[in-house]
Amino acid sequence: MTLAIVSAMPEEQAALLARLQAHRRERHAGRDWHHGRLAGRDVVLVLSGIGKVAAAITATLLLQRHGATALLFTGVAGGIGAGVRVGDVVVGTGFLQHDLDASPIFPRWELPGRGVSRLAADAAWSRRLADAVRREHGEPLEGLIVSGDRFVSSAAESTRLQRELPEALAVDMESAAVAQVCLDFGVPLAVVRAVSDRADDDAHVDFPRFLNEVAAPLAARIVESALSAP
Ligand code: ADE
Repeated sequence: MTLAIVSAMPEEQAALLARLQAHRRERHAGRDWHHGRLAGRDVVLVLSGIGKVAAAITATLLLQRHGATALLFTGVAGGIGAGVRVGDVVVGTGFLQHDLDASPIFPRWELPGRGVSRLAADAAWSRRLADAVRREHGEPLEGLIVSGDRFVSSAAESTRLQRELPEALAVDMESAAVAQVCLDFGVPLAVVRAVSDRADDDAHVDFPRFLNEVAAPLAARIVESALSAP
């Protein structure tokens, strides 16, 4: 069994990479694939790139070429749910592409040909991640993460998303695309995201600050703790 640990940004990967044992690096498709052992498990670490297409390419190659049998995604997200604050940590229970709209041929948000819009996270790995968040940080938020090819950076847009998808806790640019690949291949996926901004008019300022100071070290601690648990 090889666990893939996918990060969106190099800042998040760096701390895990530093702990990787028996490190073997492979360069392929414009990405560095880091094979090795972490907390006693076979892992492959890779950066997804930003956006749904980059994330889907990465996930597909992880499964088809790099032997991944489960995917863990760590990253940051914009908080859109009422009461979701910068610094909260979200474990996704489900994923939806908020910018997928083939209506009126298919219902809005539905994956054409699949008949679903929300894809479920793997329950066992999500529980492991949520337990790790409790140990390392505090009570996680658990719920829907929506993804799209937009950095949401205005109060108007985040309010619209919240109105249209009231269950959504957070917005990112990759999770639901990776979930679609994992659905097609029948491979488990779990996602943990630290809330870096409120997807509002200050998002572009909050995002980089939070990423470096908080999210990167936190993501590494959570993932390592989840892997180390019996
Ligand atoms: N990831 C982190 N913050 C985000 C935002 N505001 N929009 C989309 N993806 C994000």
